[in-house]
Amino acid sequence: MSSTLMWAPFGAVALTAAGVKLKTRLELSKAKHPSLRGHSKMARRLARQVPFYEYDDASFFSSDGAPEDVAARRRAGFMRLAAEQRSHGARAAALTDEVESAISDLQFTRAYRVPFQYRRLVQQHLAGGTFVESSAGVTVTDVDGNQLYDLTGSYGVNVFGYDFYKRCMDAANAEAGALGPVLGPYHPTIGYNVRRLREISGLDEVSFHMSGTEAVMQAVRLARYHTRRTHLVRFCGAYHGWWGDVQPGVGNPTAARETYTLKDMDEDSLRVLRKRRDIACVLVNPLQGLHPNGNAPGDSTLVDSGRSASFDRAAYTDWLRRLRAVCTERNIVLVFDEVFVGFRLAPGGAQEYFGVKADMVTYGKTLGGGFPVGVVCGRKDLMKRFRDERPTDICFARGTFNSHPYVMAAMKQFLLRIEEPATKALYRDLDGVWDGRAARLNQRLKAEGLPVQVANLSTVWTVLYTQPSRYNWMLQFYLRAQGLALSWVGTGRFIFSLDFTDADFDAVADRFVAAARAMKVDGFWWWEPALTNKSIKRRVLREMLKTRFGGRASV
Ligand SMILES: Cc1ncc(COP(=O)(O)O)c(C=O)c1O
Repeated sequence: MSSTLMWAPFGAVALTAAGVKLKTRLELSKAKHPSLRGHSKMARRLARQVPFYEYDDASFFSSDGAPEDVAARRRAGFMRLAAEQRSHGARAAALTDEVESAISDLQFTRAYRVPFQYRRLVQQHLAGGTFVESSAGVTVTDVDGNQLYDLTGSYGVNVFGYDFYKRCMDAANAEAGALGPVLGPYHPTIGYNVRRLREISGLDEVSFHMSGTEAVMQAVRLARYHTRRTHLVRFCGAYHGWWGDVQPGVGNPTAARETYTLKDMDEDSLRVLRKRRDIACVLVNPLQGLHPNGNAPGDSTLVDSGRSASFDRAAYTDWLRRLRAVCTERNIVLVFDEVFVGFRLAPGGAQEYFGVKADMVTYGKTLGGGFPVGVVCGRKDLMKRFRDERPTDICFARGTFNSHPYVMAAMKQFLLRIEEPATKALYRDLDGVWDGRAARLNQRLKAEGLPVQVANLSTVWTVLYTQPSRYNWMLQFYLRAQGLALSWVGTGRFIFSLDFTDADFDAVADRFVAAARAMKVDGFWWWEPALTNKSIKRRVLREMLKTRFGGRASV
């Protein structure tokens, strides 16, 4: 036999292996969302190239090509809002001046409230709103005595109303006060928490952490340890905290090499899960049901009116079921990240709401009864941190403040109080109530010819814009002027607590409509047929290129 013939079978095997590898790689590419969000590396690379530039005082109000009279109306409206804010927000402004240069987080959130081209003038004139002093019912009161309806939801912590959490915190103080900050040994309240969390999650074991981010880190680390596989799957756009592996795109200076970002609600992704052998777990943030494959919306990216959202419970449920089946088939750990939606959609969280069981669930935010927390619940075989037969092969996780006595005591209060009839009543016909409220507001907005609508997943809302505009981000300031408190992402996300009554909601709706009306009167929604989302994007791109290659920082 000639040596060539002898090697031929090996060649054929190598070729087949290369073919299989290529096919698997192509399937992975196909399962990526076509947007930049689906291509983290490219997104990071491009983001680094975007140059800063800003509109000068003249073009600030006519960056969409609006005529002079419209620009003048806009300027007058903007300055009126600024004057109102100055007269109602003197103390907040002084406090901001005092601390801003030393609080990096504040600098960041203030800068990223609006698209960067408009940042300077906005910061100069519409700065206020960062300092609050008290809360009551569904309102907060700022340091200048302005009472505002709270639509921030404290990043989702506030599910049952601030008074509920104040009671939890007071009772925790009473119960754990004698122990104080003793860490390491457990406060006895932990026993009740563990029992209830096992019941609620339907899972065997629990671990306590200090934030949602850490809970997710721990769930992923355990999944990797037990499956002996490397990669986590997250779906395009989903937020799971700020840890590097779950935030592979813009915002993370390094690449997340062991993360696959796949298309949400897409068969191509299931195909990847069925084929690849390196996937340890799949992370699901059920909030993505509101905007599959979309990033958490914020007004700093509100360049045009392209924001979209709509929640289809049946379709998302079906997707989760299919995902569950594939994960079971492939021994991939299915993690529901319920840090945001846990206890908000249903007493049993997303598992109950969608009727799909996960292998691990992370909770946080509201579960701490007002204090910081992260929790992982999981199957016994997945939660274990060491191997009996390999004593040095461990999965390490500690944290100084894990199981803090006050947090445990407040959590116990939280878990006790959600069993009370008054709290349970808040869940009654939750979707019906909040879908109805959204529909009524949308009808009013439409009837008045205002180019805004809302979309919601239960009590989590986002504002949509129905007509191309460059100035939608201004709505946050009109809403604020009407006494509605928004978080730094502006109209991207309203988070209502379940205790909003119809009367509370009607007051919010009246203010919302009034704000939109004022914004329209001030000319910010001026429109002509040539102004499309596409033409806006093109114009912004031209400006960027001109700055990048022409060296101008002001347009
Ligand atoms: C789904 C989800 N996971 C994780 C986190 C991170 O939680 P934390 O901010 O407590 O670290 C968040 C925070 O918003 C979240 O919404």
